[in-house]
Amino acid sequence: MPSTCVVGLQWGDEAKGKIVDLLCDRHDVVVRYQGGANAGHTVVADGTTYKLSLIPTGILRPGISCVIGNGVVVHPPALLKEMETLAGQGVDFKGRFFISDRAHVILPHHLAEERLTEESSSVADHLGTTRRGIGPCYRDKVGRVHGVRVGDLFHPEQFRAHLDRIVAYKNRLLAAMLDDFTPFDAKTVADEYLGFADRLRPFVRDTTAWLHGAIGEGKRLLFEGAQGSLLDIDHGSFPYVTSSNSSAAGIAAGSGVPTRHIDRWIGIIKAYTTRVGGGPFPTEQDNAIGERIRRVGREYGTVTGRPRRCGWFDSVAVRYSARISGATEIAVMLLDVLSGLESLQVAVAYEDEQGNRIEDFPGHLADLERCRPVYETLPGWNEDVTSCRSWSELPEAARNYVRFLSKQVGVPVKIVSVGPDRTATLMVD
Ligand code: IMP
Repeated sequence: MPSTCVVGLQWGDEAKGKIVDLLCDRHDVVVRYQGGANAGHTVVADGTTYKLSLIPTGILRPGISCVIGNGVVVHPPALLKEMETLAGQGVDFKGRFFISDRAHVILPHHLAEERLTEESSSVADHLGTTRRGIGPCYRDKVGRVHGVRVGDLFHPEQFRAHLDRIVAYKNRLLAAMLDDFTPFDAKTVADEYLGFADRLRPFVRDTTAWLHGAIGEGKRLLFEGAQGSLLDIDHGSFPYVTSSNSSAAGIAAGSGVPTRHIDRWIGIIKAYTTRVGGGPFPTEQDNAIGERIRRVGREYGTVTGRPRRCGWFDSVAVRYSARISGATEIAVMLLDVLSGLESLQVAVAYEDEQGNRIEDFPGHLADLERCRPVYETLPGWNEDVTSCRSWSELPEAARNYVRFLSKQVGVPVKIVSVGPDRTATLMVD
């Protein structure tokens, strides 16, 4: 049965949640395969506002199962809080929510380690992370000796002994680096996390085996990427990236499902570009245009509330990420935000200081920082497009703009979103 992946092609916040929500009608299982509570969605359904971070939005649809795959990092207190809030709003998790026993666990020292790298004046480069302990947890996963997986919480004796060693090590390190550090007590942490484990027990399992079982039964899976492809640890604008494979490259590793099971690869883009946190952003408009996009598009981080940096659409970056993520079709989101601008600019290439044209997204930060966008200017449109319900209803200039993006990226645009509402979604003829 056909399975689908939905992945952001920019620096995150492409409004993937809306497309995932729409596609839930045609799928049975939503799978998160990377990242953690650094992602965030606000969904309004039937007048109720739901806030989701680690849990896929599919949980709001009865009959859909949701999986937190092995590639995700889980902060148990945050997850339990999210589950509790949703349960209080009537969401039923029983028998339809599964957490991988191989997902790694975010521990209190990970948050302290992130504080060290993000706040301490002794560390020069701050990445502008979401401060959810994502990077330090993945670092311990890759480093192996200090990693803790969800499954470890169900072997209490080994877990306590393992945590004793980890905490002793982390305490020494953090005490040496942070001025105001209160050492962690391994027993207190272990007691707390074993308590969390008891509450999570009904949901923990070998999700890879479960997913393969679901495929065998003909269930349709929907893989939901968090963040965007340009934040991918391997393929993004390193080091200003997140610590996981946030492009479609993460699917097989982060779920245990080979990607040959996927036949629809949807890349999500905004009609412009945003970025939260540090890092190069060639088409950034740190001016009245950027402010206007931020105001009209309500471009503030869902998780941290930070204002997002805003700018023009960057075809060089998206051409690259569409390749990396294998997008076979594109959904253009937030087209309505651009209404009322007299003209629109789209970066079609970059140029270095010597005027050499660059068509490929540079791999090195210094090279990317040197790039100046080469823009093409397109006419804007004045009409409010939020009430358009078909492709043909869009103003000609808006359709031309979308066609231009599609041509530049080299992938057909199949969906255009003109407002937050589910109905404000147009299928492109
Ligand atoms: P981390 O994922 O918290 O380690 O943050 C690393 C970088 O990724 C920072 O620039 C964050 O702002 C960015 N980031 C992480 N999650 C998201 C997201 O869901 N949307 C947009 N940017 C994100």
